[in-house]
Amino acid sequence: MKTRTAFPIDVIRKDFPNLSVTIHGKPLVYLDNAATTMKPRTVLNALKRFYENENSNIHRGVHHLSQVATEDYEATRDKIRDFTNARHRQEIIFTKGATEAINLVAQSYGRTFLNKGDEIIISHMEHHSNIVPWQMLCQEKRCVLKVAPINDQGELIFAEYEKLLSERTKIVSMVHISNSLGTINPAKDIIAAAHQYKAKVLIDGAQSINHKKIDVQDLDCDFFVFSGHKLFAPTGTGVLYGKLEILDAMPPWQGGGDMIASVTFEKTTYNTLPNRLEAGTPHIAGVIGLGAAIDYVHSIGIDAIEEYEHELLQYGTKALTAIPRLRLIGTARDKAAILSFVLPNVHPHDVGTLVDQDGIAIRTGHHCTMPLMKRFNVPATSRASLSFYNTKQELDKLVASIRRVKEIFP
Ligand code: ALA
Repeated sequence: MKTRTAFPIDVIRKDFPNLSVTIHGKPLVYLDNAATTMKPRTVLNALKRFYENENSNIHRGVHHLSQVATEDYEATRDKIRDFTNARHRQEIIFTKGATEAINLVAQSYGRTFLNKGDEIIISHMEHHSNIVPWQMLCQEKRCVLKVAPINDQGELIFAEYEKLLSERTKIVSMVHISNSLGTINPAKDIIAAAHQYKAKVLIDGAQSINHKKIDVQDLDCDFFVFSGHKLFAPTGTGVLYGKLEILDAMPPWQGGGDMIASVTFEKTTYNTLPNRLEAGTPHIAGVIGLGAAIDYVHSIGIDAIEEYEHELLQYGTKALTAIPRLRLIGTARDKAAILSFVLPNVHPHDVGTLVDQDGIAIRTGHHCTMPLMKRFNVPATSRASLSFYNTKQELDKLVASIRRVKEIFP
């Protein structure tokens, strides 16, 4: 019989220096992981090592340091290929974040292959990053943006989504895990349904990459995007995965260094993948840090992370819903560790400010999902988003702090 080993939370917390700071004289309780995650010491060390010992530009020099930097940078591409189970390393394109990756697809694939009257489907729970790039494309190419509705629990209404699909659908672009609600969308079913109409599917994995095992071949998505900084890596790093034959057909979206094969004033020829879609000097140190972050996640195990976070979610849900008149926004059956809520008589910004006095960091606002806030008829929410270094004791502190807010705003 397989025995379950206890999750090594105390050891893990020591790996993240930022978790031991104090805020207003209180130990930090960091519950804003959907906005960005803390960085383990191994990632910080990788940055330091790069800038102290290897600092150099990549793909450009025969000198030793440039070659070391290139090898380390390219090693992260291999780690991501492995982490996401992509078939080829050329399917991994570095960007500065998930937002840029979606814009890359909209600008390169969308402008090349979509025409007047073609349709793009998104859902009602999308981040602005997965709405605005498609609106811009629709405006330019006179395409039509369709929005699949969600129910009061914050789940995609699958039958309604299916009704929107037709021969006119060229792109379906949906979030894997909602940053505002925590809903886990049935990505595999969404993709299979779209493929019946030969539509291409982009999955926004900004919130799923650090919570779930991602297997792009099993999902069969055409594109998958995520940000490094939500995977314990530096800001300014991100990834676009795309199926090789699709990326191969896409023209460069930015011109400059690295994406060329040769340049004359008369004509430029382009590099092969992945460089063709990576113009300019990238965030080299950040990408190397992303490699270290992936090694760190491997050392804990993504399945163990998912299981521990699920336990935290159940604990937090029970504790928050025991607070009288607290309304959870997002109660999907399949949910990741995100707890959005509103209280009567107090604006979420005031909740955020007051719990901050107790050293607790949560995000308040519309979370870059204004249409979703409108759907739930709230101007904003308070959101506690958890990671595997959080504890039940921290959730107890949040609950105690919210109860104090309620005493001020009964
Ligand atoms: N998309 C990030 C969030 O949800 C920034 O906070």
